[in-house]
Amino acid sequence: MSTPENIHTEFHRMLGREAKEAQLRQRGHVFWFYGLSGSGKSTLANALERKLVELGYVTKILDGDNIRSGLNADLGFSDEDRVENIRRISEVARLFLDMGVVVFTSFITPNRDLRASARQIVGEDAITPVYVSASFETCAERDVKGLYAKAAAGGVKNFTGKDSSFEAPADCDPDWVISTDDKSEDESLNELLEKVLPLIKQSDA
Ligand code: ADX
Repeated sequence: MSTPENIHTEFHRMLGREAKEAQLRQRGHVFWFYGLSGSGKSTLANALERKLVELGYVTKILDGDNIRSGLNADLGFSDEDRVENIRRISEVARLFLDMGVVVFTSFITPNRDLRASARQIVGEDAITPVYVSASFETCAERDVKGLYAKAAAGGVKNFTGKDSSFEAPADCDPDWVISTDDKSEDESLNELLEKVLPLIKQSDA
C-alpha cells in the first residue's frame, strides 16, 4: 500500500527489529497457522506458546475469534471482509514482529491470494505459513463450537468448506503441513516445536 498524502512516516528514526531481538535474546518470527475451522490451529498455537514461554521466549497469539470480537468486529465472512480481516491481522503481526516477538496467528485464511498478501505484508523472510490440515468431515465430527451442525442446518452464511471455498496449498507451496486428522496433539506439538526452535533461536544462543 502506498503512503497516503501528507503522511510522513517515522520508521527510519525508530529502533529496528534487530535491537529489540537483541534485548529479548530471540529472533522474531510469524508462524501463520491456517486451515479449516476446527482443524486444530488454536489448540496447537496455544500448546506451542506455553512450551516456548517455559523456555523463556516472548510470544503472542493472534486468533480469529478473538480478533473478530474486537479489532475486526465490523467484519463478516464475505470474500471482501476476509481480505480486510487478513490485511489488518498481517499489519498487527508485523507490529509484534518489529518488537522481536514470536507470533502465532490462527486464521482460516482460506485462499492462496490471502496467504500471499499476508506474506507480502509481514515480509517473506519473517513468516512461515503452517497449514493445519484436517478434512471437513473430521472438523465436522469434532465440532467444538457447534458451527458445523449449525451450518448443516442452514444457519451459517458463507461457511468455509460448505458454501465458501477453502483452497489447500498447491504442491509447489513451501508451507509446512501439520496433519491433525490422524495424530495426537502431543505428536503434532513435538513435530512443530522441532521445526520452530531453529527459526527463533539467536544464532549465538
Ligand atoms: S478468515 O477466513 O477470515 O481467515 P477467521 O479465522 O478470521 O476467518 O474466522 C474464522 C472463525 O470464525 C471460525 O473459527 C469460526 O469460529 C467463526 N466463524 C463464524 N462464521 C464463520 C463462517 N461463515 N465461516 C468460517 N468461520 C466462521
